[in-house]
Amino acid sequence: MVLRRIRDRLLVRLAVMTERHRDAIAAQLLPRFANSPTNVRISLPRTIVNPHRIYMGNDVWLGPNSLLMALERYPGVALRHPDRPEPLQTFESKLTIGNRVTATSALQVSAHLEVTIEDDVLFASNVFISDGTHGYANANEPYKWQPIGRMAPITIKRACWIGQNVMVMPGVTIGELSIVGANSVVTRSVPARSIAVGAPARVVKSWDEARQEWVPAPGGIE
Ligand SMILES: CC(C)(COP(=O)(O)OP(=O)(O)OC[C@H]1O[C@@H](n2cnc3c(N)ncnc32)[C@H](O)[C@@H]1OP(=O)(O)O)[C@@H](O)C(=O)NCCC(=O)NCCS
Repeated sequence: MVLRRIRDRLLVRLAVMTERHRDAIAAQLLPRFANSPTNVRISLPRTIVNPHRIYMGNDVWLGPNSLLMALERYPGVALRHPDRPEPLQTFESKLTIGNRVTATSALQVSAHLEVTIEDDVLFASNVFISDGTHGYANANEPYKWQPIGRMAPITIKRACWIGQNVMVMPGVTIGELSIVGANSVVTRSVPARSIAVGAPARVVKSWDEARQEWVPAPGGIE
């Protein structure tokens, strides 16, 4: 009884200390990336898969629940067929996150081929980026056991702002200094200095350099 009380008190004290030193613990536990970045802050909890395939910028700041995956095989353990333990596919993936990239929370990036996020990109929460999707060629077999299909590299160029709950699909390039509105699904590339919104995302405004203002995009809103 006494021992249990002492144990519980120690556990509580440990939990309080862990909470207080969360950032320091997160920094200490950072994995070894493909390069040697400085001043990287990726809050706990987080999942980083194959960090040796991830090139991480300096001064990157990602809020809690990041999922950064540079995949080497599919399926991983969780989705594996009970009778077919061999992977269906192998990948030589590369994930690059530029200098000063920030995300509020829950940034999910999966690279099967190549995902590049350039410097100074701003992510709101719950952004999902994947350069491959689950295969669905056969409607008689669970999709988790079919090979990844439709793989194509993704690039998010310098200084974009990607809003809350955005999904970026395979093969998309988002041009520099563009904005993607909240809840958008980006299925096609977005030119530089544009504002794209909706599902599928359409360009609704473009930057007019001469007028120094955003103007309605041709074919977009009035
Ligand atoms: C994209 C955004 C910056 C555009 O702002 P804006 O220039 O003021 O845009 P407007 O309000 O003039 O809207 C232009 C048109 O796009 C539509 N629109 C704007 N944002 C939209 C969105 N996220 N999804 C769908 N349509 C959207 C508007 O309804 C309007 O269409 P309409 O004229 O037919 O009504 C803003 O709407 C947005 O989504 N910001 C991201 C917010 C966010 O995620 N914050 C998290 C903190 S980082």
